Amino acid sequence: MAILFTGIKQLITFAGDAGPRAGAAMRETGLVKNAAVLVNDGIVEAAGTRAAVSRHRLAKKARTVEVNGICLPGFVDSHTHSVFAEPRLKDFSMRTAGASYQDIKAAGGGIISSIGAVRAQGHKSMAAQLAARAVRFLECGTTTAEVKSGYGLSLESELKMLRAVRDAQAFTPLEMLPTLLAAHSVPPEFKGDAQAYLDHVTSVILPKVAAEKLAVFADIFCEKGYFTPEQTTAYLKEAARYGLKAKVHSEQLSNYGGTRAGAAAGAVSADHADHVYAEDIAAMRDAGTIATLLPASNYYLGLAKYPPARELIAEGVPVALATDFNPGTCPCWNMQFVLSVACTHCGMTPEEAICAATVNGACALGIGDRVGRIVPGMQADLAFFAADDYRELAYYFGGNQNLLTVKKGNIVYPIF
Ligand code: NIG
Ligand code: FE
Repeated sequence: MAILFTGIKQLITFAGDAGPRAGAAMRETGLVKNAAVLVNDGIVEAAGTRAAVSRHRLAKKARTVEVNGICLPGFVDSHTHSVFAEPRLKDFSMRTAGASYQDIKAAGGGIISSIGAVRAQGHKSMAAQLAARAVRFLECGTTTAEVKSGYGLSLESELKMLRAVRDAQAFTPLEMLPTLLAAHSVPPEFKGDAQAYLDHVTSVILPKVAAEKLAVFADIFCEKGYFTPEQTTAYLKEAARYGLKAKVHSEQLSNYGGTRAGAAAGAVSADHADHVYAEDIAAMRDAGTIATLLPASNYYLGLAKYPPARELIAEGVPVALATDFNPGTCPCWNMQFVLSVACTHCGMTPEEAICAATVNGACALGIGDRVGRIVPGMQADLAFFAADDYRELAYYFGGNQNLLTVKKGNIVYPIF
């Protein structure tokens, strides 16, 4: 049955091209005031002024939902590590005592300290835990999320993580796109020999993941003490041969060359970008690589430095925003908080931040043709917030302003 969402004070449509938005185009929201959205069969049938949409032939018979707020495309959180067994509270205590991410790793914390519990966890409990986390995403207005493996770092446990993403999908309307991140860190079995581990990932884990179609993307952490730029390009090119699209964790802790290495492999996105310089930025722009910024992780790590969003936008690189939800650097799933940090600490405008969290996030997941904009024919993924003006979303922070989340035309939050 069709649903007419009306009483929308401001509707952000991002009407226009399906591709990623760069430069001034990131500020073109396609705003409609006093608006309505008509959905039918999971698809946006009409979106525009209340007066125009209510004249649509399906509007008469539709169920009407009066929302009294603003409406945006549901957030597309294009970078999360949502499968993990336990929080890292020991790391947190060390950090509050002054230790850096690198200090914590050297003391035996960090990514490797997450693998014990993940390897021990049963598949069903892992999938159930992920489905429960998905509820938190939906209630904050996120309708699509990428989910990475990378806390197992063995064939069996990486497969278990990706199968948990696949199987959790049956229990949640949150759409999840899986990424193989077996190249997240070097596990104890290969300690001191990153290349031997990467060879194992390439020859054993990657083919199995591809054969079972368990991942859409392959990702690698390119950083001192993890994997080099040369290993990054070679690995991502190999992954592409198996049909996995490339992503890279790059320039998070230092300027190490991961962004250029990712761009050289045709990466869809290079994520973090805290320490990028002119040549990294040019490489992204020339390769059509999206810069996915994760400023809530800078906030959580208490860093003074944030990614240079203004420079990226000025240079014409499409910018996406995501949470990076994970137990080590960002225990936050709320994209509204990410908007606040992006505006306050990265100098993004609310328009750019919302574009980065919707249209450009969808493009960073290769689904910009069906998700991220509210125009006829697009998937009806909508988020409604209790506000009069869309800028309030990035202005108020620390809470949840979401009123209603719609996924593929169904109201999925709140559930009565
Ligand atoms: O994106 N940098 C690598 N990966 C994650 C952190 C993972 C962890 O510490 O558990 C990130 O920040
Ligand atoms: Fe990450």
